[in-house]
Amino acid sequence: MQQNDLSLPSGCVLRRATSGDMWSIRWLVFSAKLDPTQLHWQQFWVIECEEKLAACGQLRQFSGVQELGSLVVTPAWRGHGLATFLVQHLLNTATQPLYLECLGQGLVEFYSRFGFVPISFPDLPSSLKLKFRWSELAKKLMRVPVVFMKYQQQC
Ligand SMILES: CC(C)(COP(=O)(O)OP(=O)(O)OC[C@H]1O[C@@H](n2cnc3c(N)ncnc32)[C@H](O)[C@@H]1OP(=O)(O)O)[C@@H](O)C(=O)NCCC(=O)NCCS
Repeated sequence: MQQNDLSLPSGCVLRRATSGDMWSIRWLVFSAKLDPTQLHWQQFWVIECEEKLAACGQLRQFSGVQELGSLVVTPAWRGHGLATFLVQHLLNTATQPLYLECLGQGLVEFYSRFGFVPISFPDLPSSLKLKFRWSELAKKLMRVPVVFMKYQQQC
């Protein structure tokens, strides 16, 4: 999937987040019950539609790797390709090996389209093992359907 083939709905623009987006980003992430760590606006890209924040996503920094995270689209704008556009953009801007964690088969299929593949906890780099250890525990003890994924460049 190449970003050149993708487009945003009219009235929507992709841009870097600014300090003025901080509370909207936090609200989007909290309301989607996503990981509340490293919500630094400097790491975020957002999509604004009709002058309102409609989507956000970021690349978290770890030692030698990055994590694609905080991907949220407001309910009103879901199903219009915003997440697809944003993920492709984040892939294009990533500078280090890229990982993510997600919940459930639906999202695994969504991320597989971009070239992410499921990997097991022992195969994670050590900096992410530290971060994802609670998810792994919840997966083992409570059967929470967490999946760890690594981006593999597509040919
Ligand atoms: C997941 C999310 C970001 C997708 O945003 P979106 O802008 O609606 O996604 P897109 O329009 O780009 O959808 C692309 C495709 O993925 C599919 N898809 C998206 N989310 C999905 C999910 N949770 N389960 C199954 N399929 C999903 C869509 O059906 C669509 O399929 P299609 O192209 O065949 O129609 C959005 O539903 C959301 O914010 N969810 C809550 C937060 C969340 O779970 N974030 C992911 C954290 S890992």
